[in-house]
Amino acid sequence: KQILVLHGPNLNMLGTREPGIYGSLTLAQIDADLSTLAAKEGVALKSFQSNHEGVLVDRVQAARGDGTQFIIINPAAYTHTSVALRDALAAVALPFVEVHLSNIHKREAFRQHSYFSDLAEGVICGLGAQGYSLALQFAVARLNPPVP
Ligand code: DQA
Repeated sequence: KQILVLHGPNLNMLGTREPGIYGSLTLAQIDADLSTLAAKEGVALKSFQSNHEGVLVDRVQAARGDGTQFIIINPAAYTHTSVALRDALAAVALPFVEVHLSNIHKREAFRQHSYFSDLAEGVICGLGAQGYSLALQFAVARLNPPVP
């Protein structure tokens, strides 16, 4: 079982980036916690961050052929701008959960539209880093259907 976690632009600065909004954990800490959880659940987890839209598009496209079964994505600012990244997810047709650390619905008006939410299995926002763990738990359950 294989899950891919994708982090969009500026998330490499977590820890020091507006900690009142995004929390004080670094991306490395978040990824390490997810790896621990994945190992416990017996799933393979890969994490990838980029500040570049095309690089994220390439990584999503690559997911179709590399055994990825589920994607957890925080598109960060591309949430509100990127038709290209949305189209990539639609093209590979892999199920995904959209995660945001902050509650985008109680922030600026320009953050309230997502190009991803209507394609996502679900959206988690405002729960901080815990949102990623919850998304991973959901993905694991989805990939391990209960034995009848
Ligand atoms: C974010 C919310 C976006 O609006 C913002 O551009 C980000 C992070 C979040 O995780 O809360 O970079 O996706």
